[in-house]
Amino acid sequence: MTGFYYNMTRTYQNIALEQVIVTSPSFRANPFPTFKYWRHNRPVVPVKVFGQRAWLVTRYDSVVTTLTDERFVKNRRNATDGKKNPPQMWLPGFVKPLERNMLDSDDPDHARLRSLVHQAFTPRLIAQMETRIHRLAHELIDKAIAKGEMDLIRDFALPIPMVVISEMLGVAEQDRAAFHRWSNVMVSVTKPIDGIFAIPSLYQLVKFLRRLLSEHRLNPQDDLTSALLQASSEGSKLSEDEVVGMAALLLTAGHETTVNLIGNSVLALLAHPAELERLRTKPELMKSAIEELVRYTSPVLFATERYTREDITIAGTTIPACELVFAVLGSANHDESIFENPETLILDRQNNKHVGFGSGMHYCLGAPLARLESSIAFQVLFERLPNLRLAINPESLRWNSSLIMRGASSIPVKF
Ligand code: HEM
Repeated sequence: MTGFYYNMTRTYQNIALEQVIVTSPSFRANPFPTFKYWRHNRPVVPVKVFGQRAWLVTRYDSVVTTLTDERFVKNRRNATDGKKNPPQMWLPGFVKPLERNMLDSDDPDHARLRSLVHQAFTPRLIAQMETRIHRLAHELIDKAIAKGEMDLIRDFALPIPMVVISEMLGVAEQDRAAFHRWSNVMVSVTKPIDGIFAIPSLYQLVKFLRRLLSEHRLNPQDDLTSALLQASSEGSKLSEDEVVGMAALLLTAGHETTVNLIGNSVLALLAHPAELERLRTKPELMKSAIEELVRYTSPVLFATERYTREDITIAGTTIPACELVFAVLGSANHDESIFENPETLILDRQNNKHVGFGSGMHYCLGAPLARLESSIAFQVLFERLPNLRLAINPESLRWNSSLIMRGASSIPVKF
């Protein structure tokens, strides 16, 4: 446990908080031993997140309950202890549209927002993008070979989902790098001071999205942004701020996640050469391999926040009403009561009930796209670069400091 687990030393409103910095890069490098300790000894863990008390739910069954039970709500305004709503980090008015998105909404708003984009993400429509993703993956490898060096994140894992989601929403090539910088600042906010420093980036992000919308309004395209604007002009289905919130969510969730699935999975496969060889020689393993890599590497380590609408007892602990709760997906995915040998990577694992894409009404909308992007990425990468290996010691990898995502910021490789 050393290095990952710290004793309970401090009390917070009479509740002992665990002193683990859950957002620190050293914790993110390998959080799984700590999760195991918690599942067995303290399955609902109070910690301090964003400057306030939050509860981490770690066992598989409790995680599924947290994601599906209506007593846990997403919009903090729907949680109240009768007097007050849960505290929230202060945000200036101009960035408020970023909060108007389906991931932060409960029904009926959630159902209305999700139904508007659902059609764009059906497996059949996503499958039509296969040729484009193949071409893109080959172009990226061509470039890396020509350069003679490669950072797997910067040169491959990031551009694939970034280009795909940008093309789906009609974001011009010259805007993508700036967009990624701003959205990365947003997903890296882990404490109140980060929130203050993030304000200029959030401002730029909203300004950029408003410009994207006005350009599409003047010059409609055959893309998702124009479809969303069309929906907003057809009555009161979608307000202007909701279009901004939706575009921000799709662009951010569409690339900040898949980059980590590709990066984490390549790391896992390079550390398991026999499994990698099996994948190379048996491409029919790809479907189950993707699910196992989502489970094993859990690129979305924590689900996004929930709030308790009332006092809720879960795994023997009562969480008071109006509190912040995180379902720890990465812990559920390694729960030994559900997964046999959870710490072993088994590419043909059967009946893999992982929660890496969430569960319930907020189940990942982009899962079919993420599966397609990552399977093409692995196929092209390992076929074109059969001698792929890490250029640095795995202990020297730098891990992003983020609450929700788990991924390395850079993976230098040789080939
Ligand atoms: C490996 C890649 C991905 C992983 C692991 C992942 C994981 C998740 C998870 C765990 C959730 C639920 C969060 C919660 O309940 O708090 C979620 C929701 C969501 N994801 Fe993904 N995601 C991935 C890729 C994508 C892509 C490519 C897109 C879009 C293009 C996307 C769009 C969304 C959206 C819009 C939601 C919110 C759905 C709702 O609120 O109804 N995701 N994702």
